[in-house]
Amino acid sequence: MSADMTLRAGVLGFPVAQSLSPKLHTHWLNMLGIDGSYEAIEVSPGMLSKAFNQLPKQGFRGWNITVPHKEEAYRLVHERDAAAQAIGAVNTVVVRPDGTLLGMNTDAYGFITNIKSKAGELTPYRKKACVIGAGGAARAVVKALVDDGFERIVVLNRTLDRAEELAADMGKPVKAVSWDETAKALSDATLLVNTTSLGMEGEPPLLLSLDSLPKNALVADIVYKPLITPLLAQAQARGNITVTGLGMLIHQAVPGFTAWFGEEPPLEADLEQWLLA
Ligand code: ATR
Repeated sequence: MSADMTLRAGVLGFPVAQSLSPKLHTHWLNMLGIDGSYEAIEVSPGMLSKAFNQLPKQGFRGWNITVPHKEEAYRLVHERDAAAQAIGAVNTVVVRPDGTLLGMNTDAYGFITNIKSKAGELTPYRKKACVIGAGGAARAVVKALVDDGFERIVVLNRTLDRAEELAADMGKPVKAVSWDETAKALSDATLLVNTTSLGMEGEPPLLLSLDSLPKNALVADIVYKPLITPLLAQAQARGNITVTGLGMLIHQAVPGFTAWFGEEPPLEADLEQWLLA
């Protein structure tokens, strides 16, 4: 295959150097022997529209979108899949044969697939989820939980208005609860998820007392650096089963890779350790 046949994809963000996606996709391309590339592309705010215009002309089959561009990407694509519509954000773009751009959101899929792969059968956990945060990541997590059939989903956020807006958008099983009611909300929870960036390297920890949380509740974090966040450490110390966030990054990458490069990537058992190394 000649060099100009190389299939190109990448991730657009600002900043973008910290993204693990190039390492992950390049590993899969090598494993499968595909003549392709996946690049980190820094796109400053205000320049996204230009990038969307130019990349297809440079042979890009599509790209991922990360912070802070997911909402603007939603507005720029020609068509959106159902998940993107429900979440209001796009994290994966596919250039179709006619040149139009399809915007997908694979974060909800990534979240639920990760939880299922780590916790196994979710039935015991589907009674009541407490979701911390009401930003874009929370929207993806709540959408995943609604679609998976969780009976009740409670959104707890520092700013109650945002939680209420999210609950109204997502429909019946979702309710916003004031931050002051956290202990009560946790007391019969079967799943607790942090969707904020609190606990990430360089950020303050999420200050949340787990005293009222049942010991058989599952606790998940979408932060993956560090892998064991202060929240997960606190949960593990009291005996709760925990799910780390790195698997979400891996699973959300699968639909994009498959669309751009034409093959499903292999999910080896040691992929998380390898990514972190
Ligand atoms: P993302 O799209 O990554 O989810 P975002 O839209 O900026 O990012 O949302 C960040 C979330 O983290 C919000 O729920 C935010 O709470 P507010 O809506 O009250 O801003 C939450 N968050 C960020 N810093 C926080 C802090 N120090 N304490 C509590 N919540 C915080």
